Amino acid sequence: MIDRATAERIKDTADIVEVVSDYVHLTRRGSNYMGLCPFHNERTPSFSVNRRRNFCYCFSCHKGGSPVNFIMEKEGISYHDALLHLAKKYGIPVEERTLTDEERQLQSLRESMLVANEWAMNKMHADLTSTDEGRDVGMAYFHQRGLTQEAITAFHLGYALDRPTALADAARSAGYDIETLKAVGLVGVSQHGSLYDRFRGRVIFPIFNTSGKTVAFGGRDLKGGPAKYVNSPESEIYKKNRELYGIYQAKNEIVRQDKCFLVEGYMDVIGMWQAGMKNVVASSGTALTDGQIALIHRFTENITLLYDGDNAGIKASLRGIDMLLSHKMKVKVLLLPDGHDPDSFARDHTPEEFRKYVEEHETDIIRFKIQVMLTDAGSDPLRRSEAIRSVVRSLACVPDPITANVYIQECSKLMDVDEKIISRETRRIRSEMLEKIRLEKRFEAERQRLDNDPSSDHPLSSPNLEDKSINQDCATTVSNTQPMAVSSPLLPLEKQVARYCARYGVMDFCEGLDAEGKPYWLNVAEYIQAEMEADKMEFTNPGFTRLLQAVTDLRDRYLDDLGHIREELESEKQKKREEGIASIAAKELDISSIEREEEALDKRLEEEAMEEERLYAASYTGRILASAEDDFVRRFACECLADIKPLSRRFDRMGSNLPEHERLIDLVPRAINEWKQGNLHLSISRLTQKIANAETNGDHEAMMKIMEEISRLQRIQKEAAKAIGDRVISPRSKF
Ligand code: UTP
Ligand code: MN
Repeated sequence: MIDRATAERIKDTADIVEVVSDYVHLTRRGSNYMGLCPFHNERTPSFSVNRRRNFCYCFSCHKGGSPVNFIMEKEGISYHDALLHLAKKYGIPVEERTLTDEERQLQSLRESMLVANEWAMNKMHADLTSTDEGRDVGMAYFHQRGLTQEAITAFHLGYALDRPTALADAARSAGYDIETLKAVGLVGVSQHGSLYDRFRGRVIFPIFNTSGKTVAFGGRDLKGGPAKYVNSPESEIYKKNRELYGIYQAKNEIVRQDKCFLVEGYMDVIGMWQAGMKNVVASSGTALTDGQIALIHRFTENITLLYDGDNAGIKASLRGIDMLLSHKMKVKVLLLPDGHDPDSFARDHTPEEFRKYVEEHETDIIRFKIQVMLTDAGSDPLRRSEAIRSVVRSLACVPDPITANVYIQECSKLMDVDEKIISRETRRIRSEMLEKIRLEKRFEAERQRLDNDPSSDHPLSSPNLEDKSINQDCATTVSNTQPMAVSSPLLPLEKQVARYCARYGVMDFCEGLDAEGKPYWLNVAEYIQAEMEADKMEFTNPGFTRLLQAVTDLRDRYLDDLGHIREELESEKQKKREEGIASIAAKELDISSIEREEEALDKRLEEEAMEEERLYAASYTGRILASAEDDFVRRFACECLADIKPLSRRFDRMGSNLPEHERLIDLVPRAINEWKQGNLHLSISRLTQKIANAETNGDHEAMMKIMEEISRLQRIQKEAAKAIGDRVISPRSKF
């Protein structure tokens, strides 16, 4: 506990501009400061900071408050811990009594995960520098890769001892809960149920968030094993697509230079850092995400992407351009000489040479795209016009009309096309894009309207008049500042269920039982429908009901189409098989080798065909719905298709990174269950409110009835919590 006087002192000392500046790049606007909101992704600043009143506020998502509120929200920590955080920042001493066992247990999961990671980070750093094994193996490796002591310290690099449970044992004796270590992915459980250190025998790159908390680790193999890097899994504290390696070490320098270099790997960050370019971060091998761009954008608008100058590097640099441009980023590309990554380039050159190379070779991204596309297209007129169209699509993503115009003029020269034509095309595509956004907004507003309409309320959630008047009161008093205040908390939950239906509704899902107890196959949509019927659930949004119907109606058509595809795949397979067998024959092998090769061929072809079929099935529902007649269904389907996460470039088929459609057996029941739980929760809290009213009126009979109803719902709630997926009898193995 922090005593009152100290708490007051901390609150008086904390300066909102200073506190926020640790996370957001602020620029002065009159008496206020403005920046990009750190609580949601945005492209134009709506986050305002007022020094005199010592508070901050986002005009768009409405989050904000005092320095303490800001830290609580940003770090996801309690009031108490936010005070401690600020005390530390301002060097205010705090006398705390030690926590009781009970309080320790109460510390939130998140905090204990961060604490465990911090401990592990320090331990692995110490093991690197002060054990024989660490020095002989880990340190020797870093030195051989040319790392300086300064860099090793700044990035807190480490080494995980090469024993099965060195870290797990040390954690236990230091008093850490093994469950927490499992939750952050430092410790794994083998098939036989025994614990093991997931990073053992690897050199360690801790990943810090902007405020310096250790959220994850990357561990590099030293023995030529199959997985070059092991990374922490996503968890409560680590959302991969919102973090960037090196951001903590780089952020001040990014602001100072007003520029950020983006590279691919851990070693590239450190290599450039050593060469004196400290404003550098890595996306860690995956394609750049919206969240990562937003993170960089808080510190600067200028970003330079560094890639290997081979074909793969060029392709990679063209990917994601439109997204960067629509974030109002000024993007440049720098290709390194073929075969070099930033790390190797930094080692082969002096910092001065590197700097000079950067200055001479960075190219504005649009100019770069034009050059690459035109060279690639050569004189082929068809490919030329394709290239031009692709460039124009990128131009349409540029939000600022003045910048867009400069680009248009330049494109016209470089591509030798009339400026007016490019300009007209760009405007046309841009207005199409804006129209799409406008429709989505209108459509969202419409859904909220439906959601607030009591006649479409949910059967389980017993609508009552008190609720409505409360909502209306809220609406009139706070509607200016909080347009979202009246929307149902259930909407996101049911939307998630509807989303799976729109994306993958026709895919085979699991075996169910019919009325006579005979098994039959359910597809995703039918499974959702069965679950909803079993619990008398309905969507609050009637559009979703129509969507579900539309998907269940698709079943026969889908099976038909699938039949055709299978035939096609089969004949293609036969053709490939014949070719394969011929080429094996041509090798003049002995019989047993021929047999082995033919077997391998068949296996590969079978797998390829299955993969094709799965992809076909996974994209079928969305593709058909995207041209549905029903306006709502069509738009919702398009929206769902638009935000399917692209597969990451390198690890598509490995372990936990399976694509969404391969994890449905997990995801769909979970989404339904969450929705169900949300529903019950809402109903119970409404009934609790009703009890209070009945009590005030002295209506005991009503009270009894409501209490009975509450305990009925609570029973369902318990059952639902443990019975997730009970109706799933045998998940089909191919999922
Ligand atoms: P690279 O294969 O280019 O590795 O992957 P690197 O960083 O150059 O490593 P060195 O130089 O061989 O030691 C680039 C980044 O992709 C991620 C890592 O973040 C890596 O730094 N990656 C790569 C993984 O996460 N897992 C992998 O198996 C491979
Ligand atoms: Mn490398």
